Amino acid sequence: MKVLITGAGGQLGCDLATQLKERGHYVIATDIAARPTNIPADQWHHLDVSDKSSVISLFRQDNPEVVYHLAAILSARGEEIPQQTYRVNEIGTFNVLEACREAQVRQLMYCSSIAVFGAGTPDPTPDDTFLMPTTMYGVTKVGGELLGNYYHSRWGFDFRGVRFPGLISAALPGGGTSDYALYMYVDGVRIGAYESFCRPDTRIPLMYMPDALRALIDLSEAPREKLKRCVYNISAFSPEASVIAASVAAAVPAVKLTFRPDPKRQSILDSWPNALDDTCAREDWGWSPQFDLEGMTADLIPKIRALLKETE
Ligand SMILES: NC(=O)c1ccc[n+]([C@@H]2O[C@H](COP(=O)([O-])OP(=O)(O)OC[C@H]3O[C@@H](n4cnc5c(N)ncnc54)[C@H](O)[C@@H]3O)[C@@H](O)[C@H]2O)c1
Repeated sequence: MKVLITGAGGQLGCDLATQLKERGHYVIATDIAARPTNIPADQWHHLDVSDKSSVISLFRQDNPEVVYHLAAILSARGEEIPQQTYRVNEIGTFNVLEACREAQVRQLMYCSSIAVFGAGTPDPTPDDTFLMPTTMYGVTKVGGELLGNYYHSRWGFDFRGVRFPGLISAALPGGGTSDYALYMYVDGVRIGAYESFCRPDTRIPLMYMPDALRALIDLSEAPREKLKRCVYNISAFSPEASVIAASVAAAVPAVKLTFRPDPKRQSILDSWPNALDDTCAREDWGWSPQFDLEGMTADLIPKIRALLKETE
């Protein structure tokens, strides 16, 4: 199957391209960033999703069956450049949906986020509750979900999405507000210290990258008749930041992990849910995470060490 990925040069996209190739798909990877080394030049295109005519002409030319739309500006970076975030996340998603319609793409996979929620949602937060985000990133992710739902109900288009928790992997993150968790691991191993920009009692939903990739691929492959909705909460674990620090410290004994809350990013973190209710995903397409915090720590630390050795 021919699959196109937008934002393929990012934290999620590099790993997703590899996984889809391993499953035998022909992957067309696109981004405005430089081509990652794991993607061959002939399968890489420069594509700015905010440029509608380029998106439509590439989709027509390459004729993918499924598109994974990952291109976005994340939450913390989005607060620095909100206008550009609107162009990329909101208009970019509209352009991708229109290009799917024009080029008769069969399915669009969308990456939403816990950032669609604002403060005061029930704990754990269910799929259907009020969506009152306080960041431009959250606003545009709500917009993307609603647009996709519209294309589904108006044209029967197969739009599917997950609301990801903060994602953790051995790759460097792209400006999200959950980055403190990943940097405890990466800088903890790399330089033996990290100062988190949040309070130790901060608690948001998190997920290890292999589970996130499996969720996207499993949802894409699920029979449509089993799906009662287009966008699903998915959840794995929700440790306090101090508990993550303890898990890293148990694996990297001399590490120095401290906390100095940054008011702006802390207020975003405080507006997000503590935990998500993912019952619908479990019931409709059999979602279940394989990694808890300790499982992730045990798997991730050797991977970060190996990566650092490679780049030495
Ligand atoms: N990483 C997380 O914790 C997290 C959590 C929830 C949801 N998500 C969602 O998952 C998706 C992938 O996130 P990620 O972690 O890989 O982010 P990332 O920042 O690492 O990657 C995003 C990619 O989008 C690209 N991009 C930016 N502007 C673009 C444009 N105009 N045209 C084309 N590409 C452009 C960037 O160059 C980057 O490579 C995003 O939609 C994000 O909102 C991520």
